Amino acid sequence: MAYETITVEVDDHVATITLNRPDALNALNSQLLRELCKALGEASANDKVRCIILTGSSKAFAAGADIKEMSEKSFVDVFTEDYFWTEHQAITATRKPIIAAVAGYALGGGCELAMMCDFIIAADTAKFGQPEINLGVIAGIGGTQRLTRLVGKSKSMDMHLTGRFMDAEEAERAGLVSRVVPAKKLMEEAQGAAQKIAEKSMLATVAAKEAVNRAEEVSLSEGLLFEKRLFQSLFASEDQKEGMAAFQEKREAQFRDK
Ligand code: CAA
Repeated sequence: MAYETITVEVDDHVATITLNRPDALNALNSQLLRELCKALGEASANDKVRCIILTGSSKAFAAGADIKEMSEKSFVDVFTEDYFWTEHQAITATRKPIIAAVAGYALGGGCELAMMCDFIIAADTAKFGQPEINLGVIAGIGGTQRLTRLVGKSKSMDMHLTGRFMDAEEAERAGLVSRVVPAKKLMEEAQGAAQKIAEKSMLATVAAKEAVNRAEEVSLSEGLLFEKRLFQSLFASEDQKEGMAAFQEKREAQFRDK
């Protein structure tokens, strides 16, 4: 379908979704989030797609929720429509891996959206922040929870209470992003990572994603049990036989998601 606030390109097993509201630094309004959820649904349903990249422009991944759209809303409005919660659930329920490729501003809801992805590759121009405090509110789609889990209480509190921005180098040091690359190389790096993921068995990929995500939800003993069961269950797959045979035969594995 034709989108107005995002673009979608599917190339060689990788769907690249680009946020595209340049005049508003990709601020997340209802239309953009609706279109993003639709595009993620289509990528999930497309058997050819094995990994998704979510990106923005060189100036902004996304500068937050759309303040102009939000500013006149009342408590009853945001409570009744459960502001952005349906979209949050749809994005985080996506089973295929999503890489956030972030250049420029990732602020407020933009930082939160990047953190909903499975990992973040940052350009050296990236700036992360939760500046909602400057607007008289706080983060609303996961910032206080996910940033705290990723970088720890002290730095998360600093970001949320002062509204300051974190550059890419600090974000990597703090564990918010997995890699930092020169801005010119951002998409090449993200594509390379996505292609690597696309080569694996989808069964193991989905299991790994579910197991890592479980670590944020449950105790260590429950998480270890969850991981152990998934690990054991993968021995029922043809891909486990193929992967281990290929290693011993010193050849590339040919996974078939079976
Ligand atoms: N919502 C709506 N429009 C936005 C926006 C946002 N979050 N961020 C930027 N824009 C718009 C600006 O209004 C401006 O539009 P106009 O030309 O029509 O005025 C255009 O994008 C360019 O922005 P600036 O002129 O401000 O660009 P700059 O380079 O001088 O500054 C910036 C860049 C520091 C990112 C600045 O735009 C800024 O501070 N933006 C707001 C960041 C923010 O507070 N984000 C949190 C939003 S609340 C939220 O996200 C809640 C939640 O958790 C769900």
